[in-house]
Amino acid sequence: MNLPKKLTIQLKSREETNSLRKLKTPSSLVDFSSNDYLGFAKSEAIFKQTHQFLVDKDIKQNGATGSRLLSGNHLLYDDVETFLSEFHQSESTTIFNSGYDANIGFFSSIPQRGDIILYDEFIHASIRDGIKLSNAKAFKFLHNDVEDLEKKLLHFIDKNEVFRQAQNDRERHSELDSESHQTIYVATESVFSMDGDSPDLEKMSHIIKKHNAFFIVDEAHAVGVFREGLIQKLNLQNEIFARIITFGKAMGCHGAAILGSKQLQQYLVNFARSFIYTTGLSPHSLATILTSYQQLVITSENEKSQKQKLQQNIHHFLKEVKRLNLSFIPSCSAVHCCIVSGNKNVKSISEKLHQKGFDVKAILSPTVPEGKERLRFCLHSYNSTIEISDVLELMRIFV
Ligand SMILES: Cc1ncc(COP(=O)(O)O)c(C=O)c1O
Repeated sequence: MNLPKKLTIQLKSREETNSLRKLKTPSSLVDFSSNDYLGFAKSEAIFKQTHQFLVDKDIKQNGATGSRLLSGNHLLYDDVETFLSEFHQSESTTIFNSGYDANIGFFSSIPQRGDIILYDEFIHASIRDGIKLSNAKAFKFLHNDVEDLEKKLLHFIDKNEVFRQAQNDRERHSELDSESHQTIYVATESVFSMDGDSPDLEKMSHIIKKHNAFFIVDEAHAVGVFREGLIQKLNLQNEIFARIITFGKAMGCHGAAILGSKQLQQYLVNFARSFIYTTGLSPHSLATILTSYQQLVITSENEKSQKQKLQQNIHHFLKEVKRLNLSFIPSCSAVHCCIVSGNKNVKSISEKLHQKGFDVKAILSPTVPEGKERLRFCLHSYNSTIEISDVLELMRIFV
């Protein structure tokens, strides 16, 4: 059956703007594109340990059998959530099926009608989608711009004050006062997925606290790369209302969690629809999360650990970028981007790199704003310094 006409037109427009998305099977090229920063997704040790763990515990169950609120809350959920709460120094951990689910669940249920969400203009699509489902009003602030954030915070606080004052003047009841009370939420990422850069989290947290707002940080690309993530590295865990961590990136498996207070957990379990109306993770998925974290704990102090190797590769990449005088968005994370304006241009360079044996993805508009199309390099523990130098030499020629 043919697609309805409106949809055909949209697909055609994607073709015309060189932005048509297509599924491809993973290549055997040198990997500068996956999120498997520490090589955990392909780790035979993690695979075998997970299997052994399930055998030892006599867990012979393939699927969750239902939503976590019905039959799907396998015993392992409690083990993994307790482990994660300790590791991430959080009062509670609530596991979701994916980072996408965690973000839409959080943002659609927590901010209420009359509340304000301020979010970084480059925030991830899953947060944007959660915001779209929310009854709160949302406004963006300039990327990583603490001054712009404070300006916007002050704007809404002032407006709120004027409104409350007017209500007091009219001697309204306290019930109405509490209805008019506006909560402000601020959302950002500790490592931006499409830029690899980070906000000044200390400064941001200070300002947000000063204005009694609630801070939410998505740590998808920081956990594992910076061990527990950047929030704990900066000792800010007690200043954050909610942290979103995901297991599909450096941890090499699947799923995500929201870290926060026990009350927050209770609220999410009762109101986050992407938590309630979906089948839970399989015991195997939960066991893999636990094994991957154990691997991170065991090896991360070791000189030869994947985390150390990744850090050495990041260091080497930055040194080579400088030597070759290339222009990349400043980043200390595993994600490094070089802006090449225009879908056609960026795709052409990515294809040339493919032909030379390197898998470097072109990030096209509309995933990023028009004119900000880019080549996105994801670095891994298993890349060699020679591969890094070679691909950057090619960049010098092609860009
Ligand atoms: C910042 C950020 N948050 C959330 C997600 C979604 O996580 P998941 O892949 O587990 O759905 C991603 C993944 O692309 C991401 O980059």
